Amino acid sequence: MAQPERDEDPGELPYRAHNIPKLGFENYWYPILTSGELKKKPKGVRLLGQDIVLYRDGGKLYALEDRCPHRGVKLSLGECAYKGTGTISCPYHGWTFDGATGKLVAAIMDGPEAPITRKVTIRHYPIRDFAGMIWLWPGSMEPSRLEDDVPEWIGDQGKFFSMPMYTDYKCNWRWLVDNWGNDQHAQYVHRKSPELFFQPMLPFNLTIEPKPLPNGKGMAFKRIGGVTSAEFPGLGTFPNKEWWRFMKPRGRGNVRGFENSKAHQVYGIPNQSEVWLPGLVLVGRLHGEYALVQWAVPIDENTTRCFNINNFRRLGLLTALFDRAHYYLWRGWAHDRIFSDQDKVLLEAVVPGPERLSKSDIGVIAWRKFMGGNARRPPSLQEAPRDVA
Ligand code: FES
Ligand SMILES: [Fe+2]
Repeated sequence: MAQPERDEDPGELPYRAHNIPKLGFENYWYPILTSGELKKKPKGVRLLGQDIVLYRDGGKLYALEDRCPHRGVKLSLGECAYKGTGTISCPYHGWTFDGATGKLVAAIMDGPEAPITRKVTIRHYPIRDFAGMIWLWPGSMEPSRLEDDVPEWIGDQGKFFSMPMYTDYKCNWRWLVDNWGNDQHAQYVHRKSPELFFQPMLPFNLTIEPKPLPNGKGMAFKRIGGVTSAEFPGLGTFPNKEWWRFMKPRGRGNVRGFENSKAHQVYGIPNQSEVWLPGLVLVGRLHGEYALVQWAVPIDENTTRCFNINNFRRLGLLTALFDRAHYYLWRGWAHDRIFSDQDKVLLEAVVPGPERLSKSDIGVIAWRKFMGGNARRPPSLQEAPRDVA
């Protein structure tokens, strides 16, 4: 068993053992805002602990380090003073930077011939406006093609359309991602959510079989067996009699199983739920025309932006209208607010420390191992994950 280094937070131990960084994996695209939030004014965001200013000018998007190297003022307080040039000017003394290269193109108060001009460069970031979201690449490696790096439900906007929203959680991103590792919390925490309230209990005490996806991007979990109620010696039955659960089994409790669903049979979707690097979960419905992607975006050590990206298959105008109405009137409230908030309250209350993992954590352990061992890193950092035994 690896010993914690002196003064190290014991809560870091499982992540250090698997080489999963506190601030997230750098060499991936991350959604940071919805497209509508970035208007004419520059906007400051934080991603993986880095402060970044985003702006639009001349129909293009730019992302630069949000700190003027002159005397340290945030560029996000500045403006695009020279429209159409792709530049942003610092509000303090007017140093003006080119968004495409990060180069200082003018130090306004020093005059046009200032010797410092073009000798200073700040970091610029790859940025995209795609599927209703602004995406950033915070890593040092050459960026991948965004469309290839996200689930098809987001990447192929010809076949699907996405409706994103997000909520900020006051906790580390790894708490969210662990929450998606099939630890059977859903059967416990969400059993009284509006979506599951009238449904029969979802089976618990399952056997979980994790398996890596053939595309190498993540994992799926097969759930085997399980019961919907059990007797606990000295306590009684769980759950207690719940007369209001009058609905027929459906969803995960579907008696026919995912293999017989339309999603699998008609659309060939291999798994009902998958987790992907760098930290997202993809949950498909049995009818195969809708999938939710929840994406844990590390903002800093203690803040995570949870993007709920609702994705719908394009099946014509009427269906699209129905999907939107259904989202606004039901799912947006029942899932993205109430259901997700049930997790948020708990994840924000996690006190990092030593863990006593149990049978239900098989998925979490496998997922941590997978992340640490398979995350994209520059070749110089491509080390084997440390032994956890
Ligand atoms: S601090 Fe930015 S121009 Fe002086
Ligand atoms: Fe949950």
